Amino acid sequence: MIGIINGPNLNLLGKREPEIYGSESLEDINNWLLDRVAALGESGVIFVQSNSEGEIVTAIQEMGYNPAVRGIVINPGAYAHYSIAIRDAIASVPVPVVEVHLSNIHAREEFRHRSVTAGACRGMICGLGKLGYALAVESLLS
Ligand code: DQA
Repeated sequence: MIGIINGPNLNLLGKREPEIYGSESLEDINNWLLDRVAALGESGVIFVQSNSEGEIVTAIQEMGYNPAVRGIVINPGAYAHYSIAIRDAIASVPVPVVEVHLSNIHAREEFRHRSVTAGACRGMICGLGKLGYALAVESLLS
């Protein structure tokens, strides 16, 4: 089982700033990802999207202590840039977590250059669009 967490405003993918985030909805990306995960031999995926910091913390805790979960992929959205609570939640669970950003946060506004959450993760992928999620899953299963 793999957990996939998407943070605030990612429910608006496809409509939101398509020149940055593309035209696919989160549902499109999740369906694509399900096939990619299945091709890697792992069938179970838990998808969570939340616009609220506390719900994301709870999702990390629940997935992170679920013995069936082998790893978590998280796109914290803007929370990556300032949520110490989400960083602490990532650091508090025994399962590995990989952070993903669709856009290249280093090529954008300066306030996006720093991720406070990535330092608690096994790794971070940014700028590769939806492929980042699949590569993150592959790394967690390998
Ligand atoms: C994002 C990058 C963040 O800076 C931004 O706040 C998002 C999306 C990305 O996937 O590129 O909401 O996490």
